[in-house]
Amino acid sequence: MTRFDGLARVYEEMFELPWRRYLESHTVLGLLGDLTGKAVLDLGCGAGDYCRLLKRAGAARVVGHDTSAGMIAHAAAREAREALGVEYAVEPPPANAFDIVLGVYVLPYAEDYRSLVRLCGVACTALRAGGRFVTLPVNPDYDHRPDYYARYGFRLHDAETRGDASKVTLDLEFGAHRETITARCWTRRTLHRALTEAGFTDLAWPGFQVSPDGVRAHGAGFWSAYLRRPHAAIVTCRKGKPSRHDDAIDEDGDRAPDHR
Ligand SMILES: C[S@@+](CC[C@H](N)C(=O)[O-])C[C@H]1O[C@@H](n2cnc3c(N)ncnc32)[C@H](O)[C@@H]1O
Repeated sequence: MTRFDGLARVYEEMFELPWRRYLESHTVLGLLGDLTGKAVLDLGCGAGDYCRLLKRAGAARVVGHDTSAGMIAHAAAREAREALGVEYAVEPPPANAFDIVLGVYVLPYAEDYRSLVRLCGVACTALRAGGRFVTLPVNPDYDHRPDYYARYGFRLHDAETRGDASKVTLDLEFGAHRETITARCWTRRTLHRALTEAGFTDLAWPGFQVSPDGVRAHGAGFWSAYLRRPHAAIVTCRKGKPSRHDDAIDEDGDRAPDHR
């Protein structure tokens, strides 16, 4: 059992909220670019909302992986009805199989540095050499006032002094939903270190964009607070090409003897 098992509907409905629809997923899709023919892994896919979006956007293969059996069961039940062709699994994803890995709000659930590197490693292993990882951690510079994000459907506050792995309380408050979740904040420096240690290069921290539809529907003023201090950050990076050193690891993962 995980904290997320009973939350599939909450996440599914949250995906329809303006900030996720017009700002977050708009930005993520823009960063992913043309998905035609691409194999994409959604790491920590939850209820499968991004998986469905990616498949509809033209990805050839979409796999959703999550450690929550409840989330995967919900996503798979939707897939059984909608037949979009998305695959879901709680089992670890295959190695060297994806052009892109997306990980939205999954790194905040690594509770210590080793788990953070391991999770980044799952993304890196799943990618082909040169493949991209796009991930959204908690923005280490998010606004400290709990009500700052209330208009977007949630409250966020530090449960501990902010730093690496510090607890952050997320209160989801929209529609009839009232759920509290504990996530973890990671500093930019540590995220950089963990991603690099896992095998990623070319790290960048792009900003969010609001879609023209979002501005039309809610007005520019609605978005300004979020854009000034987003509660999430975006990190993009690339799986490094195997070095000659990596080539010396045989198929069982054992390091070949160094004959030099
Ligand atoms: C906040 S939800 C986000 C779900 C989805 N990405 C979205 O944007 O709606 C975080 C998800 O990550 C999953 N998760 C947490 N740790 C994980 C891990 N180590 N590997 C895979 N999934 C994980 C949780 O079960 C949960 O469904």
